[in-house]
Amino acid sequence: MAKQIITSGFTKLIRTKPVILIVTLHPDGSVNAGTFGSYSDLSADEIGIAIGKPSHTYQNIKRTGEFTINVLTKNIASASVICAEEVPPSISELDRAGLNVEPSNKVNAPIIKECVTNIECLFEKEMVIGYHSYVVGKCVAGYIEESFIDKDGGLDVVKAEVIYSVRYPEPLYAVLSNPFKV
Ligand SMILES: Cc1cc2nc3c(=O)[nH]c(=O)nc-3n(C[C@H](O)[C@H](O)[C@H](O)COP(=O)(O)O)c2cc1C
Repeated sequence: MAKQIITSGFTKLIRTKPVILIVTLHPDGSVNAGTFGSYSDLSADEIGIAIGKPSHTYQNIKRTGEFTINVLTKNIASASVICAEEVPPSISELDRAGLNVEPSNKVNAPIIKECVTNIECLFEKEMVIGYHSYVVGKCVAGYIEESFIDKDGGLDVVKAEVIYSVRYPEPLYAVLSNPFKV
């Protein structure tokens, strides 16, 4: 992959709601990855995600103040299911999914090499809503695979075959096709 560095408009890298993997660090420094789909782009460089409070992802974000967002595509879709399983911190979801990490530039949590876009985020604030906390992350760095850059600099979700969750928890996914102008 030849990824281009993005310095603004980070939320265009994820468009509406492709399935994402959030990568965080456990207290012992090992890497955790969780699957997420309930999120919104709040501004050009802020993303809010509804994260279950018992999850490793939430606990790691609260402790470290940082995380990365990594967008999933059809060729690596099985990672969505694997990273949604509840496993102890000693088991690496990414190893099981056959994915690799590479260092981030502005946070300690790494990014996933095989994902077409990645965003490095710092914890900004949260709003606890029952079981979930709506965690707002400030995007501080972003990367996009060059061959999937759309006309406006964002992610070409059709060409990249980004996956959308159609039913949950049933593992049914879809990719977008036939974009049209009105
Ligand atoms: C397609 C999909 C979307 C999901 N979206 C969310 C979500 O938005 N928020 C959430 O708390 N859990 C979501 N989950 C469930 C988490 O992936 C699951 O709780 C996982 O165990 C969290 O991993 P962790 O404990 O390593 O953080 C989703 C699962 C799938 C398969």
